Amino acid sequence: MNNIRTIKGGANLKGIIKVPGDKSISHRALIIGSIAQGETTIEGFLHSEDPLSTADCLRKLGANIPNIKEDETFVISGLGLNGLKEPREILNCGNSGTTMRLLMGLLAGQEGKNFILTGDRSLNERPMGRVGKPLSLMGGKIFGRESGNKAPISIDGNKLKGCVIGTPVASAQVKSALLLAGLMASGTTTVIEPASSRDHTERMLKAFGADISIRGELGRNVVIKPGASLIGQRILIPGDISSAAFWMIAASIVPNSEVLVKNVGLNPTRTGILNVMNLMGCNYEILDKSIIAGEPIGSIKVKTAKNLRSFNIEGDILPKLIDEIPILTVAACFCNGVTEIKDAQELRVKETDRLKVMARQLRKFGAEISEKEDGLIIKGQSKFNSAEVDSETDHRVSMSLAIASLLAKGTSKILRADASSVSYPAFWEDLAKLTN
Ligand code: S3P
Repeated sequence: MNNIRTIKGGANLKGIIKVPGDKSISHRALIIGSIAQGETTIEGFLHSEDPLSTADCLRKLGANIPNIKEDETFVISGLGLNGLKEPREILNCGNSGTTMRLLMGLLAGQEGKNFILTGDRSLNERPMGRVGKPLSLMGGKIFGRESGNKAPISIDGNKLKGCVIGTPVASAQVKSALLLAGLMASGTTTVIEPASSRDHTERMLKAFGADISIRGELGRNVVIKPGASLIGQRILIPGDISSAAFWMIAASIVPNSEVLVKNVGLNPTRTGILNVMNLMGCNYEILDKSIIAGEPIGSIKVKTAKNLRSFNIEGDILPKLIDEIPILTVAACFCNGVTEIKDAQELRVKETDRLKVMARQLRKFGAEISEKEDGLIIKGQSKFNSAEVDSETDHRVSMSLAIASLLAKGTSKILRADASSVSYPAFWEDLAKLTN
């Protein structure tokens, strides 16, 4: 493993790239395929650390998931809703919040079975009470460090009853956990979010035949009823817009660049970055739009734009670009004017405190960034000098710093760069390909 990457500033980006499969959809395909009846075929799976953690945990629960090879379509033979078994071992979720939170929801209603979930140092510091507390309203018995808020988490599978739950944060992980629990509960479960988060779980459950409906203004009430059989499906996973974002922003801000990113998922709950690119005045177009397996996709062609404008991010758009804040912080450094990011306190409980870490690392290049409780203020038109920066073990920080290094004068070093394997193992090869 090469943990230090060296990047020479000044190279432009040119070429065509196909980003790896969507991380959120990859987790859900494994989980829902495992509890469906019959076969689920999965194509375009993200072969990276996080979804592989989900696969590993599900196998320990008895799921029939084969050894997954990169770029290979595979088949899961589903166990049905009641087929999961009590594992003999602790379930290790690695660095993956999605794995831990979705499994908490899936396992809370497995009556009479006991489960222990743990993760790496970062995951075991992230808040789990946001899932455990609403699950206990449904009858879940969830325990953990710090009054149940932190892993290791122990679950005593119990009979659940559906109820109406308002979540305090717009989090797809929380919503998805409650919907998976709702499949096992008696009666109806309604989840009401303060703003709409990504809806891949709803789409996939519906495609598998679950009794799920969206009600209310802006689709914020999701209603699930137990009883319907989930039937295995063929799932074609599109490229991850959160991975494409690095190339979309890089091609916009690095002079003389032109990149075509192919086969990108364009689910409207994920495309907040395109709204921001419009505000910035980026030069992009979307080609080959289509719908595949219930998810909109397209290719995005981006060319360098001059005189990019600063932008503000706040309110309901946050969940639609939550994972893109690190790379948008880099973008803001090269816009005219001052950018303000507000309402982004969720960033503090991601794989790292991304507000603090991005400010700390980008300042090493010469960026002018100040940190607020809930966001960042970034002064544009920076002149970056080369620096030795550190991902601090966060995959999206690592890749954002790589793009920042392209705009620095001289050669920069990124420490703990291979954190990127959590979501984009071929990132460095793709960077080399585009900058050649
Ligand atoms: C995810 C939801 C988001 C996102 C994460 C993946 C998912 O987290 O940041 O990378 O797959 O549901 P929250 O739902 O906690 O905001």
